[in-house]
Amino acid sequence: MGLYNDQFVPRLVNLACGMRFNNPLRKRTCAGLHGRVVEIGFGSGHNVPFYPATVKSVSAVEPADLGWKLAAGRIAQATVPIERAGLDGQSLPFPDNCFEAALSTWTICTIPDIATALAEVRRVLVPGGTLHFVEHGLAPDPKVQLWQHRLNPIQKAIAGGCNLDRDIRAILEDAGFEVRDIDVFYGEDGPKFVTAQSLGVAVSP
Ligand SMILES: C[S@@+](CC[C@H](N)C(=O)[O-])C[C@H]1O[C@@H](n2cnc3c(N)ncnc32)[C@H](O)[C@@H]1O
Repeated sequence: MGLYNDQFVPRLVNLACGMRFNNPLRKRTCAGLHGRVVEIGFGSGHNVPFYPATVKSVSAVEPADLGWKLAAGRIAQATVPIERAGLDGQSLPFPDNCFEAALSTWTICTIPDIATALAEVRRVLVPGGTLHFVEHGLAPDPKVQLWQHRLNPIQKAIAGGCNLDRDIRAILEDAGFEVRDIDVFYGEDGPKFVTAQSLGVAVSP
C-alpha cells in the first residue's frame, strides 16, 4: 500500500467522512437496516452511531488497519456487536446467504473491482436482502460529468483510488440488484463534481 495510502489516506478519510454535514445522510441510509449486517468499507466507523436498534450484529470489512484503529472509540460506544470480519469487499470470507442487509457509504467509488465486490455482496445476502447505500458518483448533468471524467485521474491518485465518475445506479443494476429507492441530488458542501450523491436501497432478488 505504501506510507501515503497506509498513514495519510485513512486520516484524510476519517476527517472528510467525519464532517457533520454527512450525518443526516448516514441516518437516512442506515434507516431500516436490520438483522445481521455486513458493512463494506467500514472506514473509521462513522456509521456506528446511526445503526438502528433492529441491527443484531455488524461484520465490518475494511482493509485499512489505521481506519479500524481510528474507529475504536465509536466501536466502544456501540450498542450492537461489531467485528472486523474481512479485509476486502472483493473477496468476502462469509458463507452464502448469511446477512439480512449490507451497508456501503462512500465506498462503491473506491473498491477497484466493484463488479466482483457487488457479486460478493449479493452472494452473502439472503434472497430479498437489502443493500443500503449513499455514494458520490456520476452527476446527472453532462457538463458536470465532463469535469468528473477530466478530474478522475487526479482524484484517484490523491484519494486512495476513489473515482468521481462511477454511475452508481448502473453499477448496482449491472450487479443484479433491483434499485428500490434512489435519491440523486447535489450536496451543499462542495463543488458539484464531488457532491453528486446517490442514496437509497437496492434489493438482491
Ligand atoms: C471514502 S471511505 C468511506 C469510509 C466509510 N464507509 C465512511 O462512510 O466513513 C472508503 C473506504 O473504503 C475502503 N476500501 C478501499 N478498498 C476496499 C476494498 N477492496 N474492500 C473494502 N473496503 C475498501 C477504504 O479503506 C475506506 O475506508
